Amino acid sequence: MQDFSQVPIEDLDADQAAEELARLAGVIAHHDALYYQNDAPEISDGDYDALRRRNEAIEQAFPDLVRADSPSHRVGAAPAGGFAKVAHRVPMLSLGNAFDGDDVAEFLARIGRFLGLETAPAVLAEPKIDGLSCAIHYHGGELVQAATRGDGAVGEDITANVRTIADVPNRLTGEGWPEHLEVRGEVYMRRADFQALNERQEASGGKVFANPRNAAAGSLRQLDPSITAQRPLHFFGYAWGEISVPQQDALGSTLMDARQCLVSWGFSINEPARLCHSLDELMAYYDHIQSERPDLPFDIDGVVYKVDSIELIERLGFVSRAPRWAIAHKFPAEQAETILEAITIQVGRTGSLTPVANLQPVTVGGVVVSRATLHNEDEIARKDIREGDHVVIQRAGDVIPQVVSVRTDLRPENSVPYAFPDRCPECGSHAVREDGEVVRRCTGGLICPAQAVERLKHFVSRNAMDIDGLGDKQVKFFFEEGLIKKPGDIFRLAGGDKDSLTPLRNRPGWGKLSAENLFAAIEARRQVPLDRFIYALGIRHIGRENARLLAKNYGSLEAMTAALSRAADPESEAYSDLMAIDGIGPAVADSLVAFFAEAHNREVLADLSAQIQIEPFEAPAQEDSPVAGKTVVFTGKLEALSRDEAKAQAESLGAKVAGSVSKKTDFLVAGPGAGSKATKAADLGVTVLDEAAWLEMIGKTPT
Ligand code: IVH
Repeated sequence: MQDFSQVPIEDLDADQAAEELARLAGVIAHHDALYYQNDAPEISDGDYDALRRRNEAIEQAFPDLVRADSPSHRVGAAPAGGFAKVAHRVPMLSLGNAFDGDDVAEFLARIGRFLGLETAPAVLAEPKIDGLSCAIHYHGGELVQAATRGDGAVGEDITANVRTIADVPNRLTGEGWPEHLEVRGEVYMRRADFQALNERQEASGGKVFANPRNAAAGSLRQLDPSITAQRPLHFFGYAWGEISVPQQDALGSTLMDARQCLVSWGFSINEPARLCHSLDELMAYYDHIQSERPDLPFDIDGVVYKVDSIELIERLGFVSRAPRWAIAHKFPAEQAETILEAITIQVGRTGSLTPVANLQPVTVGGVVVSRATLHNEDEIARKDIREGDHVVIQRAGDVIPQVVSVRTDLRPENSVPYAFPDRCPECGSHAVREDGEVVRRCTGGLICPAQAVERLKHFVSRNAMDIDGLGDKQVKFFFEEGLIKKPGDIFRLAGGDKDSLTPLRNRPGWGKLSAENLFAAIEARRQVPLDRFIYALGIRHIGRENARLLAKNYGSLEAMTAALSRAADPESEAYSDLMAIDGIGPAVADSLVAFFAEAHNREVLADLSAQIQIEPFEAPAQEDSPVAGKTVVFTGKLEALSRDEAKAQAESLGAKVAGSVSKKTDFLVAGPGAGSKATKAADLGVTVLDEAAWLEMIGKTPT
């Protein structure tokens, strides 16, 4: 093999680029193993980064040559004894839920509004399998990689295990499959297989699983694929991710066509499926499947409705983390009766006191439940829930079990109403309810250990900093031992010296290997994307979606800190800019301002900034779009597109969509009936376009 390692990327032809990518994949995997598994790197971090950057630059120049085992799909190597991480290049999203006919009607109406259609388009209905979603990549028809969903952005590499599943083809059959195809679907276990497995496990003293889903999960995440091979797992294909050609060319123009393609390539698909044309037909399908449910060989937790046309699916796109074009219609929750032994109070990271019901263990829908949420003190009073009561509990899907009602006819005679504490059970501070709030909060703030621990748990959690090996138990332990009091302490844990395990020496449960693994996991997170970091701060009202909005809008932590400190003055421009972010309302704005006004929070941020690198938010590259990076406001009635579709389209071209006009606005797109926004835009000298001019500018002529 010739050596192209010194050839500038612009001088490589496709064959040379393919060879260079193969070489880099091998070299980077080698250094990953040295670094992560042996802890004995041979090259400097700088040289290693240069290899990765070269690999990424070649992939950008030759996107068709990206390898299934590309290093850019991997976030880190497999920690010794774990699974390697795999980045999903098309995010694996979840589905929104409908619980009744009204929700389904609203789903159809929303689609109609978005697309500007009078009648709902054809919708495919399928059973919703209760298993684990999985993404399987094929190159040239060969299975090359399989990954779990993980957090939707990054999953785990379970290729060896998925290869053992009988109805996942290792080589695609039939013809017409694209060069690169990512099939998505559900790995599940049939009910009869699950029972037989549990009997075998019990006989051999192995783990007995609570339900088929847990059994499937446990079997799929075996480090030894020969164990997975003995487990009776199955797979249904129902969606796809990356494909090397336009979707319609590979799969046809509808989901019904796509299902036939999957079958011809060797996959099983969910049956019975039905194409429906109205709300009535969808509800009839739902009733039919619900009546079949007990006789199906596998567990289902509802049905899924998906717009059938691939063209419409592409137009509808996604909102937040779920598609607009699909929804899950869940079956009603399952219920059971048990005794509420005691009510305990949990203190959350913002000081909220949440009552928890400690129950006599009972099986609900195949899962043993011993705790349920009681929401808040009003809820307890409204239902008059008391310690010692017989209660009806229910769980729906993965939702936390709830107490539905009390069997007052079975109430013990000495029973007394529950008195909600007015002091924090953890630190003894007063717990107060502000006007209009249902939640009682501990006023202990910084002195309340429960709040501090909860904030740390949130900081390291999967969707936040995602530090492997620092689970709830470990965080609590480190906090109690005084090793981690604030987030920055996490990055000082290794004591600055990788060989010295001083802080953990002689701590129960910590060996050399586990400590080293933990330090490696912490090191791996010294670089973090801005949106994750903002979410990790655990500011009230700032979930992942708002964190992403803020990251996108401010671009860097410095810019955001400066702007939000200035925003303390509600008359300031910084405050109106914040409120102009589409999706940010007064409660969110006030919570942000309060967070940045607090000296302690600024100290925590400064301390962290010295320990870690926060990557500025990178907007998806759309340099060739004339509106990339521009701020757009829509007002008045739009004709060609609904307001939502116009917004989604602008965002997909890299524009920021704001809710109000300010000096920062680049374009106001004004339809008929535009009012004060148009006047304000004229005053500020903002460019005002009508809808046709806007569509022309972004290269979309009205249909
Ligand atoms: S379609 C964009 N179809 O349910 C997501 N999902 O609660 C497209 N699921 O993450 C998913 N059966 O793991 C689809 N027939 C089916 C399904 C199904 C089960 C799972 C899937 C998804 C979860 C959402």
